[in-house]
Amino acid sequence: MPNDVAWPEKLREFHNHHFDSTIWNDFPFRNDDIVISTYAKSGTTWLQQIIAQLLFPGCEGMEVAEMSPWMDLRIPPKEVKLPEVEAQTHRRFMKTHLPVDALVYSPLAKYIYIGRDGRDVVWSMYNHHANANDIWYGALNDTPGRVGPPIEKPVDDVRLYFQEWLENDGYPWWPYWENIHSWWEIRQLPNVLFLHFADMKADMGREMRRVAGFLDISIDEEKWPQMMEYCSFQYMKANATKSVPLGGAFWDAGAEVFIHKGQNGRWRDILAAEDSRAYEDRAQKELGAECAHWLANGGITN
Ligand code: A3P
Repeated sequence: MPNDVAWPEKLREFHNHHFDSTIWNDFPFRNDDIVISTYAKSGTTWLQQIIAQLLFPGCEGMEVAEMSPWMDLRIPPKEVKLPEVEAQTHRRFMKTHLPVDALVYSPLAKYIYIGRDGRDVVWSMYNHHANANDIWYGALNDTPGRVGPPIEKPVDDVRLYFQEWLENDGYPWWPYWENIHSWWEIRQLPNVLFLHFADMKADMGREMRRVAGFLDISIDEEKWPQMMEYCSFQYMKANATKSVPLGGAFWDAGAEVFIHKGQNGRWRDILAAEDSRAYEDRAQKELGAECAHWLANGGITN
């Protein structure tokens, strides 16, 4: 590990209906840990499936959601989650949705970040939110320890939902721009890999091989076709209960709600030109031209 690197430091805690960032303060890292990070609705579950296949080539029926917990989700609480992760004997691959400055950053672990255009994120999020059942609201709002307001039912109009999200920086979830920006700022660190949802869609095999190279995993070429199949949208949708948290219990229609369409650009026919312009202007202002371009289009950045 290079020792002349300025490693990120934790500067704050982050709590809301979903988050308890303090779990990272008590987390003993191992040298080969993998941390998967996104703002949310950006291909997290897809990358969890990819990494499960890289670690266990061609293995079918893995309980990937259990193998790869969302660390900073406050349910179940850290007292339950930490010992479970500690007991894992395989190479660990955990998920986070925190900005860098709310994490405890380990120089030993490897971090993979996925970006996705905010308009695609909101379209995915709306489906996630609008289909959530009372179990979801109860878990997030009534489990003791919530900080801040409860999460309410969404408005009945995805365009309005998008406008509120943009105007109120991530409402009712969490700020978008700081998440993208904080990860973008550290993309050149030796233990960070940047992916983009659009690149994963364009050529999943190429992106899987980039991930394998970054994680020092050699590909079992005989198993490769099987691995590709198990990471495909069709397979993941048909087998969503394995990869989606709690087997999809938070949605009456089940885990398939979570693996919804797997497409970008569904907003194009619904958002007005001025909505998109407002988003693009904001992206430029918050992120600068280079990062905003990457976020909208993908492409290799590190
Ligand atoms: P959509 O809601 O746009 O369909 P996350 O896991 O970060 O919550 O992201 C969920 C999004 O990733 C959903 O997007 C889901 O369909 C998509 N996704 C999951 N697995 C995928 C796959 N194998 N191929 C394409 N998209 C996938």
